[in-house]
Amino acid sequence: MINVTKTFLPLLEEYNKQLQRAWEKQWLTNRGELVLELEQKLKEYLNTSNIIVTNNGTVPLQIALKLLGNQGEIITTPFSYVATSAAIVWENCTPVFVDIHAEYLSIDETKIEAAITNKTTAILATHVFGNPCNVEAIEVIAQKHNLKVIYDAAHSFGVTYKRKSLFNYGDISTCSFHATKLFHTGEGGAMFTNCETLYNKMFYSHNFGHNGALDFYDVGINGKMSELQAAMGLSVLPYIENIILERKKVVDYYNSNLDLSKIQTLKLRDHTQWNFSYYPIIFESEEKLLKVERKLNESQIFPRRYFYPSLNTLGYMKGNKMDISENISCKILCLPLYVGLLDVELQKIVSIINYNL
Ligand SMILES: Cc1ncc(COP(=O)(O)O)c(C=O)c1O
Repeated sequence: MINVTKTFLPLLEEYNKQLQRAWEKQWLTNRGELVLELEQKLKEYLNTSNIIVTNNGTVPLQIALKLLGNQGEIITTPFSYVATSAAIVWENCTPVFVDIHAEYLSIDETKIEAAITNKTTAILATHVFGNPCNVEAIEVIAQKHNLKVIYDAAHSFGVTYKRKSLFNYGDISTCSFHATKLFHTGEGGAMFTNCETLYNKMFYSHNFGHNGALDFYDVGINGKMSELQAAMGLSVLPYIENIILERKKVVDYYNSNLDLSKIQTLKLRDHTQWNFSYYPIIFESEEKLLKVERKLNESQIFPRRYFYPSLNTLGYMKGNKMDISENISCKILCLPLYVGLLDVELQKIVSIINYNL
């Protein structure tokens, strides 16, 4: 069976070696030495100023919205994983959807200003498939209207934009280290900020608001990563360059062999060094997509409909119509992309797709 992704697993001995350290210390959580080491190594690898690793990629969104959303209206994208807009609702804020670019697939910054009201507090945009939003234009709009900017950078591990980590843009950026992501800790995530004051608030927030053992800075939640998760991260991180390289080979194969006259692929923003996180293709129609998906499934190949449905159409969202996002959501399919995908498997995937276009 070929799935859309396959979790990268380091050698078990290497994972055991990291676990051994936790066993020796008899210390499994509460920011032990493995978590601290992982944060340090990630900071160096990514070249970011502040990082807090977390237990998943959703809690940092909630913390960011709690700190910056102020229960107001949050301008956001309808084309993302459900966690992006569900976190807004969960934090008692109101999602206000703005449609996306048809080619970049991220929020269309030219439509943001029309959606701003006196209740708007923040913009929460996703770097979809690791493709940067127009961060400069969004920054200008945010400054002009005194709004905060949160980036859901769940897909953006290792991406640089204008030679800077994509995590360095916005007031807060969040990432997911879920097992399906190219860098992972099984479950896990992180949040990033360049602002020291905000970093302190985020730090307290992810640890129940604790300020020492007996004092509390403010309300908080449990967003801590465990030592067991950090052990996985420390075992995967040494492979990261190789992971990205191997994924690039798969992307290059698709680019060279798919019949690109009949499908649309992701257009990357200029000045982006990408991480080869996903390979989305957009069909001419949903019927075409369903036909190709069925044929692939018959051969035990299971791509995924990322992202479907358009989030503004979910029952609890009460979103306005978003023509581009709704249209693309119905026609987009992410192809298998992972380390270890064999040439024969790639040939099979491509020939089934090309034959059924
Ligand atoms: C865009 C986006 N945001 C948020 C999340 C949530 O991350 P996690 O599953 O680590 O909680 C995901 C996860 O798949 C995602 O794709």
